[in-house]
Amino acid sequence: MIYRALYTGVLRHLPPEAAHTAGFGLIRATAGVPGGRAAMRAALARPGPGGRVRALGLDFPGPLGLAAGFDKNAVAPAALAALGFDFVEVGTVTARPQGGNPKPRMFRFPDERALVNRMGFNNDGAAAAAARLRRLRAALGPAAPIIGVNIGKTKATPPPDAIADYVTSAQLVATVADYVVVNVSSPNTPGLRGWQETGKLLPLLRAVRTALDAARPGRPVPLLVKIAPDLADEDVDAIADLALGLSLDGIIATNTTTSRDGLRDRAAVDRAGAGGLSGAPLRRRALEVLARIRARAGDHLTLVAAGGIATPQDALDRLDAGATLLQAYTAFIYGGPAWPRAMHAGLRELERGRGPARP
Ligand code: FNR
Repeated sequence: MIYRALYTGVLRHLPPEAAHTAGFGLIRATAGVPGGRAAMRAALARPGPGGRVRALGLDFPGPLGLAAGFDKNAVAPAALAALGFDFVEVGTVTARPQGGNPKPRMFRFPDERALVNRMGFNNDGAAAAAARLRRLRAALGPAAPIIGVNIGKTKATPPPDAIADYVTSAQLVATVADYVVVNVSSPNTPGLRGWQETGKLLPLLRAVRTALDAARPGRPVPLLVKIAPDLADEDVDAIADLALGLSLDGIIATNTTTSRDGLRDRAAVDRAGAGGLSGAPLRRRALEVLARIRARAGDHLTLVAAGGIATPQDALDRLDAGATLLQAYTAFIYGGPAWPRAMHAGLRELERGRGPARP
C-alpha cells in the first residue's frame, strides 16, 4: 500500500535509475536504524520456516533470490534479504572499477511490466565489493544471508586478457562468496556474449575454477554460469554438456534478451535504443531454455531460473520445469518491497492446493 502510493506519487515520475537509487536508499536507510532490519523482517519476510531448499551445498531458507544487477556493489545484501529474498546475488563486479554507459541507460515499459537497460556493468570493482562482504560477514557471522557474487569482464580489458580479468575477480571474491557466477550473457559489454561459445567458455570456466580452488583450498566455492535467452537451442545444449563435463555446479537461465518481442510501443522501443530487455516478455523463452537444460542435464546441475518471474504461478512453473532456485529483478521493481513476501505466500498457497509436496 505504502509502496504503491510512493510509486504512483514519486518513483514513477523519476527517471528509472534515479527511482532505483531512491528506492534502494530507502531500503538501506530503514535497515540501518537500530532494530530496522529485524522490523523489516517481521513485517515483510516470509512468516515462519518451510520451503527450505538444499542446493549448492547450502541451506536456503526458500527458493526466491534477488537477481544480479540490483545490488551491484554489495552495499546492502542483508537489507534485501530482510525483505524476504532467500538469497541475494550481488554484482556484476569486474576486476577494475568502471562507470558503465552514459545515462540514461534504464527504461521502463510499465504496460508490459518490462525494463530495457544498458547499464554496462557500472561498479566499484571486485575488490571493493569483496571488502564490503568481508565486513558484513564479520558483523553478522552465520546470520548473514546467502550471497552469491556475479563476475564479468572489465570493458577496457582487451579480449586476449579477458580470462585473466575474470580470474582476478574470482580470486578477490572467493572467500566471501557463497557461490560465484561467471556472467557471459550481458548484452551491454561488447563481445561478452561471444564467451558463450564452448571453445572459449571451456578455458574460461576452467581458469576460474582453478583460481577459486587456489584462493579457498579445501572448501570449493560452487561455480555457475549465467547464459542468455538468445542462444540457439543447440548452443544451449552445448553449454549444458560442457557444464556436465566440467562438473560445474549449476546454470542460471537466463539473463536479459536483445529481442524486443512483446513490447507494443515501437516509438518507445526506438527511443530506448540498445540494451537488454527484462520482465514479463522474457518469460516464455527463459522457461523454454530452463526446461531444455533440465532435459539435457538430468539432476546433475543446480538450475537457477530467472527471466520474467512475476507471479506465484510463474514461480511454480519454473520449479516444475526443473528449477531448484529462482531469481527475479524486474517484478521486484514494479511490485516493491512487499513483493517477495507476496510471492512466498502465493507459492505456498498454490503448493497447498496441489496436495503433497513435489517429490
Ligand atoms: C540486470 N541483470 C543483470 N544480470 C547480471 O548477470 N549482471 C548484471 O549486472 C545485471 N544488471 C542488470 C541491471 C538491470 C537494470 C536489470 C533489469 C537486469 C539481469 C537480471 O539479473 C536478470 O537475469 C534479468 O533481468 C531477468 O530477470 P527479470 O528481471 O525478468 O526478473
